[in-house]
Amino acid sequence: MPNTEYYNDKVVRQFLLAAAVWGIIGMSVGVYAAAELAWPALNFDTSWLTFSRIRPDHTFGVIFAFGGSALMGTCYYVVQRTGHARLAFGKLAAFTFWGWQLVCVLAMVTMPLGITQSKEYAEPEWFIDILIAIVWVSFGVVFFGSLTRRRIKHIYVANWYYGAFIIAVGLLHIVNNLALPASLFKSYPVYAGVVDAMVQWWYGHNAVAFFLTAGFLGMMYYFVPRQAQQPLWSYRFSIVNFWALISVYMWAGAHHLMYTALPDWVQSVGMAFSLVLLMPSLGSAANGLLTFNGSWHKLKMDPAAKFMVLSLVFYAASTFEGSMMAIKTVNSLSHYTDWTIAHVHSGSLGWVAMITIGSLYAMAPRALGQPKMYSQKGMEWHFWIHTMGLLLYVGSMWTAGVTEGLMWRKTLPDGSLAYAFIDSLIAIKPMYWIRWLGGVFVLSGMVIMAWNLWHTAADARAHLIKPIPVPIPEPYPHQVPEPLPASAG
Ligand code: HEM
Ligand code: HEM
Repeated sequence: MPNTEYYNDKVVRQFLLAAAVWGIIGMSVGVYAAAELAWPALNFDTSWLTFSRIRPDHTFGVIFAFGGSALMGTCYYVVQRTGHARLAFGKLAAFTFWGWQLVCVLAMVTMPLGITQSKEYAEPEWFIDILIAIVWVSFGVVFFGSLTRRRIKHIYVANWYYGAFIIAVGLLHIVNNLALPASLFKSYPVYAGVVDAMVQWWYGHNAVAFFLTAGFLGMMYYFVPRQAQQPLWSYRFSIVNFWALISVYMWAGAHHLMYTALPDWVQSVGMAFSLVLLMPSLGSAANGLLTFNGSWHKLKMDPAAKFMVLSLVFYAASTFEGSMMAIKTVNSLSHYTDWTIAHVHSGSLGWVAMITIGSLYAMAPRALGQPKMYSQKGMEWHFWIHTMGLLLYVGSMWTAGVTEGLMWRKTLPDGSLAYAFIDSLIAIKPMYWIRWLGGVFVLSGMVIMAWNLWHTAADARAHLIKPIPVPIPEPYPHQVPEPLPASAG
C-alpha cells in the first residue's frame, strides 16, 4: 500500500521565512547601534532611538527572533527526518510558530518604548514572559511528542542537543523571570542584591550555553554529516561531548561576575568550570570538522559546506577565547572593553550565524521541494561578503578592546592614571567605523540570502509544492539504524 503520510514541512517553511526576516531586522538594528557608537548624533535626541534602548532590541532580535526561529524550524525538520515520522500535534506546532512571532513582535516593540525588566537577554516584561513560557512548553510537547512517534529506535544525537536546549531554556527562563507585577508594564524580580546578580548570570551564561550553543550543535550534528555526505567522524565522541557539555556549562556562569561582590570562591568555581569547558567545546568542533575528511573537495563548489566549516572554526576559536577570558587575570584586562564584544560576535557572527546560514541553504531546497537553491552565485557572494564583514567586525573590536584595557590600566610613576577615559574613546574611534562597515557587509549578505530564498520559493510555487512522503530514504549518518520493519511497529 502506498505511504500516504507526509512530513509537516509547512511549519518548517514558516520558521525558515521568519528566520530570514528577523535576521535582517535584528542585524539592521545592530548596524544602527554600531553607527550610533561611531556617530552618537544619530540618536537624534529621541528616547526610543537611544543606544541603551536600541541595543537590547538588537540582542533580542538576533538571538531570540532570528536564532530562535532558525532553531525551532530546523528542530522540527530534523526530528521528523531522523525519526521517519510526522511531527506530532500539528495544530500545536502551528501555535508555536504564531506564538513565537507574537512574542518577538511584542518584545521588539516594547523595548524601545522603555518597557523592560532591565535584565540582560531577559528584558521583556512579565506579560511577555508568560507568553514565552506557554509557547516554550508547547514547543517541548511537540518535540518530545514527535520523538515518541519515531519509527527508528535510536534517537540520533542531534535530537539530544535539541532536547537539552528545550528543557534547559524553559527552566532558565522560568527561574530567572520570577517576578511580582506592580502594573501591566512593570514588575520587580523576587531576587535581590547579589542573589539577583547570580541568578541573572546563571541565566545569561546558560542562554549562551543552551540557546546559542547546544541548540546550534543540534543543527550542526544533523546538517554537517548531511552536507559532507559522510558519517559523523565519531558518533561515540559526540555522545561523550554531549554529556560533558551539559553537565559543565551550568556551573560556569560566575565568570561574568569576576571581581564583583560575588563570594570569591564562587568566582573561582566559575573560572575552573570554564576551563574544563574547553574539552567538550573543542571536541564537538573537531568532530564536525573531521566529518569533512574525504569530502574536503566539496568546499570548492558548495557554499553551504563552506559556511559550515568556517562556523566550526569560529566555534573552536570563540570557545577557546571564552575559556581564556574566564581566567581572572585575563578578565581583569578584557572586562568592560570591546574585547568582550569581539568574543560575542566571533561566537555569534562566526559560529551561530554561519552554521545557521549553511544549514538553511542545505535545508531550504528540500523543505521547498526544489533540487537546489535558485542562485549558486548568490550563495558564493553571501559567503565571501559575510566572511569579510565578520573579520572586519571581530578584528576591529579585538584591537579596540586590547587598546582600551591597556590604556585604562597604564599608570604614571606617581600612581595616577596615564589616560582619561575620553582618551581611550578617541583612540578607538576608527575601530568603531570599521565595525560598522563590517556590519553593513554582514547585513548585505543577509539581504542576498533573503533574495535567493524568495526566488527558490517562487520557483517552487511555479511547480506546485508537493509534500514529501514519509519515510524518505535521505542519506544520513550510517550510525543511525535503519527503520524498523513494518511488522515491528
Ligand atoms: C550585522 C551584524 C551585527 C552588528 C553590526 C552588530 C552590532 C552590535 C553592537 C553595536 C552591539 C553593542 C556593543 C556594545 O554594547 O558596545 C552588539 C551587541 C551584541 N550583539 Fe551584535 N551585531 C551583529 C550581529 C549579531 C548577531 C548575529 C548576534 C547573535 C546571534 C549578535 C549578538 C549580540 C550580543 C549578544 C550583544 C551583546 C554583547 C554584550 O553584552 O557583551 N549580534 N552588536
Ligand atoms: C567554552 C565556551 C565559552 C566560555 C568559557 C566563555 C566565556 C566568556 C567570558 C569569560 C566572557 C566575559 C565575561 C565578562 O567579562 O563580562 C564571555 C562573554 C560572553 N560570551 Fe562567552 N564563552 C564561551 C563561548 C561563547 C559562545 C560560543 C558564545 C556565542 C555564541 C558566547 C557569547 C558570549 C556573550 C554574549 C558574552 C557577553 C555577555 C554579556 O556581558 O552580556 N560565548 N564569555
